[in-house]
Amino acid sequence: MSWNSLLENAYVPYSEAAKACIVESDKGNFFAGVRIENISYPVTISSLQAACSICLSEGETPIRVFLPLQIDADQLSYWKDEFDLEIIKTDEPPLDKLTSCFKEEPEDFSSQEELKNLINRAVTPNSDFPVSAILFVEGGYFEGVNVEVSDWSMGLCAERVAIAKAKAAGISKFKRMDVHTLKGEFSSPCGACRQVVTEMMPYHELSLYHADGSLSKHLSADLLPFSFKTSSLKK
Ligand code: THU
Repeated sequence: MSWNSLLENAYVPYSEAAKACIVESDKGNFFAGVRIENISYPVTISSLQAACSICLSEGETPIRVFLPLQIDADQLSYWKDEFDLEIIKTDEPPLDKLTSCFKEEPEDFSSQEELKNLINRAVTPNSDFPVSAILFVEGGYFEGVNVEVSDWSMGLCAERVAIAKAKAAGISKFKRMDVHTLKGEFSSPCGACRQVVTEMMPYHELSLYHADGSLSKHLSADLLPFSFKTSSLKK
């Protein structure tokens, strides 16, 4: 079993340097993470940030990370120290043990209910501002909650956790996204999420379930007008 099938899921159109890892949790589950680049390079998600955030968003703690032998991982020292991770460099990743984060969408599915339940899993020691997100794909969805760690800049928003799960699972065709915040005047994706959403789902519906119970629907393109897009690079 090689890393190739997971490395293929990385979104690296700019550097072409695919990266992937697998994090094992304290509960013995295995979560994959792949590198997700963005035309705005600071909002690129490293494979370790993705895998650790996914693990935390599932209510579990990373204890071990599996990495490809020949590929240097970004942010390794930060994530290693954060969770005292055991590092295993191997050419035989435990792909057969991966936990699937894909959920099938039942007929009676209620986004509002699901977002309300999901938001309890947000990890917000700093902000106490929980957010939940559901990313819809063919036949089902991926869940996301925001995850904060010791370094504020290494945290990941609910929207991007859901996107990281889908990309790690090899799914790139996104349908729409629902987002819910519990506090604040209204639910409003941050600038970094707008940039990532613009790149991953440029003309898609975003439903924002606000704290007061109201709902507004938006086209992703409208949330980041006059944006810097990948298409700008194409001649
Ligand atoms: N946050 C999200 O997860 N999504 C949003 O749409 C807005 C902000 C998170 C990030 C951080 O954990 C907290 O909310 C406060 O910024």
